[in-house]
This record gives sequence, structure tokens and C-alpha cells, in this order.
Amino acid sequence: MPIPLHKNYINGKWTPSSSGKTFESLNPATEQPIGKFQLSTAEDINDAVEAAEKAFNSWSSTPAPKRARIILKAAELLRREKQRLGKLVTTEMGKVLPEALGDVQEAIDMAEYAAGEGRRLFGRTTPSELQDKFCMSVRMPLGVVGLITPWNFPIAIPSWKILPALVCGNTVVFKPASDTPLCAIEFVKILEKAGVPKGVLNLITGSGSEVGGAIVKHKSVRAISFTGHRDTGEWIMKNAGLKKVGLELGGKNGIIVMPDADMQLAVDGIIWGGFGTAGQRCTAASRVIVNEKINPVLERKLKAGAESLRLGSGLLKTTDVGPLINKNAAEKTHKYTEIGIEEGAKLLTGGDKPKGKGFFYKPTIFTDVASDMRIAQEEIFGPVVSLIQVSSIDEAIDVVNSIEYGLSSAIYTNDIRNAFLAIQKIETGITYINASTIGAEVHLPFGGVKATGGHKEAGWAAIEEFSDEKAVYIDYSGRLQKAQID
Ligand code: UN1
Repeated sequence: MPIPLHKNYINGKWTPSSSGKTFESLNPATEQPIGKFQLSTAEDINDAVEAAEKAFNSWSSTPAPKRARIILKAAELLRREKQRLGKLVTTEMGKVLPEALGDVQEAIDMAEYAAGEGRRLFGRTTPSELQDKFCMSVRMPLGVVGLITPWNFPIAIPSWKILPALVCGNTVVFKPASDTPLCAIEFVKILEKAGVPKGVLNLITGSGSEVGGAIVKHKSVRAISFTGHRDTGEWIMKNAGLKKVGLELGGKNGIIVMPDADMQLAVDGIIWGGFGTAGQRCTAASRVIVNEKINPVLERKLKAGAESLRLGSGLLKTTDVGPLINKNAAEKTHKYTEIGIEEGAKLLTGGDKPKGKGFFYKPTIFTDVASDMRIAQEEIFGPVVSLIQVSSIDEAIDVVNSIEYGLSSAIYTNDIRNAFLAIQKIETGITYINASTIGAEVHLPFGGVKATGGHKEAGWAAIEEFSDEKAVYIDYSGRLQKAQID
């Protein structure tokens, strides 16, 4: 069977790239190609930005509740297509079907939330220091925004960016990750069907350096929102000029387990946070900071838990953990196993690739890990968990904070004081108490501090991200009034 060819979406039309070249997206469980996509150019980006600029006036002056109605319609279509899209997410990205359905559900949730914002988009009113003068703020769209998304949540993360950007009245140039372009195309088709007018949302596939770079540098693009690798984030910061930039650049998220914790709850949370999505979440639990008194029990239970997980195609009901996204990811993960062994950490379980097709890697646990080892500092983005032993809550919090990133964290404890110390002292954008590091809900701000980027998206933060709060002063005194002077 020939491999289906897919196009870019510019100004409401499915259009081939000016390059005449394509690339393939593979099913990571079988290594079979599932589609061909446009290997686009800076010229294609110019066309997309031009279309978005042209559409801006009419879209931004469409009443927000009307824009929202289109997004609510998209929620309905997504719900109707949830099974089909879930299967596509598993086929193109690899995560197991229940998680893939969760990915789609997250987009439905975001569509409902963003649609609700159509009747809010709150500004504020505040008193003036002068008489007969009225002060308020109103939400203004930014203009054309460039959205660059990763492959690990191929429907959910595009939805976090595209839907709030649209409800705020922006027009969009969207570049999805090259490992999951088909999910992005299907998502855009849903929005097209829901009634997003031509030019308002444009999709260009292609390489990060050529296509992503052209968006970041384009003079008419007003804002960039990017989720992905830290090096790319730094490049964007240096090259985006004076655009508004939102970055989410990953994490090295730690779970603290205190002696007073419910042990089985902690084990379940570590296995889910460390090996769910094969560890390929920015929020994945890659470090466990455990009190030395309970370390032997925890080690034993985690080893048994990891070894009970069944690897395989995410479409099979019997599979617990799917493949990694591509060959590079599997090789990178294995390199970290070698680094861990070299650094003197003890390999408790896993540490190699099973035989056969697909980019699988066994759930891997290191113990006796020192906090400054590379396996405890660098983001692996694979199914590798490091156990670090400590002797107090203060030491545990120091270890959680001893990394460059600051996205998610968790503590298992039944002592309210430990829980509040964690909330107060841990330097991350998200902290969970008695739950794993993953599982953020769309109506709260998502993002991290430190090298994670320092920006927030989703929830009400999405409205901040994709709008400008204009201050408005209305002087109805009929005379010249001087602020700070009269
Ligand atoms: C990501 O890790 O890149 O909180 C996003 C979670 C998901 C989103 C994760 N709702 O794990």
C-alpha cells in the first residue's frame, strides 16, 4: 500500500510545500512509516504568516463568545472522534491506548475551558487617584502567534496553545513536532470542521531548524510559545528578538518518600510517574528521594513493580508500557544507563532494550545514586528512575532543588508539616502531595521555574500568555487633570 501524503494548511487550503520534498513519520512500535509530510521551507512560513496577518482583523473583531462557540464545537467533534484519535496517538506516538485517550481528553477539557473564556476574558477596574476619571484594563489579542509543539502529547499540547490563542483573538502559525505530524493534521482538521475561518489557523510541517527557526525569526510574528528541548528554548530566547516568548523546557522531577508515607501509594505513584508514557513526560518522575530507613523496602517493591510491567504495542490491552518515540530516544536512554553504571550507581533492574522491532526500553531503576551524578541531574526522557537516599525532610528538599530544572515535584507523607514544607520550599511550578509528579489538569497554570523556562501556560495563565492587558483611562472631568501632580 502506498504511504499517504499529507500537506500543509495555509489560508484554509491543504497545500504542498515549495520544497517539493517530504519526510516520513514512523509507528515507533513497528518502525513502519504511517505517512509522508511536507518538508517545508521559510517560504512556506512566509505564506502562512501572511495568511494569518490577513485573517487577524476579522478574527480579532469577531466577538469572543462567537469565537468560543467554534471552539466548543471542536470539543464536541473531539469527543465524537475520541476513539479514532486515541488510536492514532498510539500508532504515531507509541503511548498505550488508555493514555492516548487521556491525551485526547486533555484537548477536550482545554476546548471546554477555552470556550468558557469567551465569556470571561476578564480585565479589571480600579479607582483613579483623580476625580471623574475611570480606570480599567481590557484584554487585547497579540496578533500572529507562532506555536511550536512536542511529540509526547501530540493532541493535548497543541490544544493548550492553539485554543486559548484563538479564543483571545490571535491568529496562528502552528509547527508540530516531526515525529507526530499526523496527530497535528487531524487536530487541525477538527478545528477546520468546527468552523475556524481560513487563515486563522495555519499548519506547517518540517524541521525545527528550518521551519521553527523561520517562525521564531519572522518579523510579523508577535509571540512564540514553545514546549520542547532546553537547547532549542535557549536558541529561541536568543533569536526571537523582542517577541513575547513562552517556554516549557522539561524537568528532572523528584518524588520524596517519607517514613510516615503510605508505602504502597508511593510505590504506585513512582511506577506510574516514572514509567507511564515510557517516562516521556516533561513531568515524569525521574528521581525518588527516599528516607534511608525505608529504602530497602521501597527498593524491593519498586523492583517488583517495574519487572511486572509488560512492554509492547500500545494498542494491545496487555501492554503497560509502549515504545520510545524513535531510535535516537532509545539510544539516548541506553547511553544514560551506561553513564549511571560508570558513575557508580547500582542498576536495580532494566538497563537494556528487549529484542525485536520497535524502539522499546525496559523500565530501569538505579539505586545508590548521588544527587550530583549525571543520571540524577540531566533529563533522560525515558523510563529511568534514580533512587537517592536521604536522612531528613530538609535534606530531601535540598536534593529536590539541587537541579537546574523546576517543573514538577511530589511528596508522599502523612505528616501535614512535611507536606507544607514541601509546598513552601520546593522550587517547582507544580507540587503534588500524595500523588505522583504527573497528571496536571488543564484549568490550572502549567509550567516551571529555573531552567524549565519560568513561563506558564494552560488555565488562566493561558489567557495571560496569549493576550495583552491594556490599561485604559477615561477622564470625564472636562478639564486637564495631572496624575501624580494634582
Ligand atoms: C508533559 O509532560 O509534557 O501533567 C505534559 C501531565 C500531563 C501533561 C504533561 N497532563 O503529566
